[in-house]
Amino acid sequence: MRSSIRLGTPLSPSATRVMLLGAGELGKEVVIAFQRLGVEVVAVDRYPDAPGHQVAHRAHAIDMTDPVALAALIEQEQPQFVIPEIEAIATQALQRIEDAGVATVIPTARAARLTMDREGIRRLAAEELGLPTSPYAFADTLHEVRAAIEDGIGYPCVLKPVMSSSGKGQSVLRSTDDLHRAWDHAMAGGRVAGTRVIVEGFVDFDYEITQLTVRAADGTHFCAPIGHVQRDGDYVESWQPQPMSEAAAAAARDVSGRITEALGGRGLFGVELFVRGDDVLFSEVSPRPHDTGLVTLATQRLSEFELHARAILGLPVDVTLRSPGASAVIYGGVDAKAVAFEGVAEALAVPGTDLRLFGKPESFTKRRMGVAVASADDVDTARSRAAQAAAAVRVVAD
Ligand SMILES: Nc1ncnc2c1ncn2[C@@H]1O[C@H](COP(=O)(O)OP(=O)(O)O)[C@@H](O)[C@H]1O
Ligand SMILES: [Mg+2]
Repeated sequence: MRSSIRLGTPLSPSATRVMLLGAGELGKEVVIAFQRLGVEVVAVDRYPDAPGHQVAHRAHAIDMTDPVALAALIEQEQPQFVIPEIEAIATQALQRIEDAGVATVIPTARAARLTMDREGIRRLAAEELGLPTSPYAFADTLHEVRAAIEDGIGYPCVLKPVMSSSGKGQSVLRSTDDLHRAWDHAMAGGRVAGTRVIVEGFVDFDYEITQLTVRAADGTHFCAPIGHVQRDGDYVESWQPQPMSEAAAAAARDVSGRITEALGGRGLFGVELFVRGDDVLFSEVSPRPHDTGLVTLATQRLSEFELHARAILGLPVDVTLRSPGASAVIYGGVDAKAVAFEGVAEALAVPGTDLRLFGKPESFTKRRMGVAVASADDVDTARSRAAQAAAAVRVVAD
């Protein structure tokens, strides 16, 4: 059967053109995946020389939360696909673009809107779809938070701004003594001031996973589960495959299939799940490649970035796991611009390893500047290889 999909020549009238909204380390890999298919790529971020800018055909630095600026740029560049790579985007502008048929928003404008707000996605998952989640409540005041905890959520619990990512503004409360501190932390950490919060019962999970799920032209595909460790709301290490009972693995695919079906559209999703025994709880979902999925650069025949690009274009996907593997994050450790990386040769001398250095123009102590990935015959060996390689790299002020 011949499909109607055609890919054009970049920088010509026949070009197949995509616009990435967000051009960090994940966006950079997505840009490269499109480049390899001869797709014309426009990369957008809020600051110049972002990682994805450096490998795109054209780069723009704008405030993507400004609906007027965003709509004007889309009008100027005329992409066929608009691909959000971060949460902080003027989703009302995306909705108008989708409604007018100007471009296809990936996966859909509604998915981008629902997932940028913990309330939207949690209510969809728990209340509309009936997926298992931690107990939760939403609140606008400290008084409401206290009432929700006392009325049933109890301690320990977790408080998060509804609009935040990377663990910002998030803390665990063990008793009433923690209430004020957690509230102040949430108010300071939200993307918008005076934000609403979610309070969630603390889940004492055995382990947590990311279930990468691809909605492609021929249906939904599930990657092997990715295990990971989070520290201060940021992932520090991930590996694939995470060993799971058959029942838990099936439940993970079931939950992921249902939430991604409800969000719709095409592309790759990172579904975050908590696992206890054979029970799987839905936590949240990114309608885009997931940071813990950087491990797929070392493990899968097609990385999560290549899968995303293929699914968006309507091309066949293949989620085959090639080898067990792991990833370990390289943090800046210093606050400085134009840093240098030392120890790269030592890192790459560790068997089975590779590095991605993101090329960010400025390092911060806790900024992710690179990642080490490793493959091996088993996950434990891959984890120690990735950790060893990451530790060998030193970020120094030049
Ligand atoms: N209810 C919870 N119970 C236990 N751990 C949690 C809970 N919520 C979040 N966490 C931990 O914090 C991490 C970050 O939380 P998450 O909701 O994914 O925030 P973010 O959007 O910033 O990634 C999770 O991956 C998990 O390790
Ligand atoms: Mg998360």
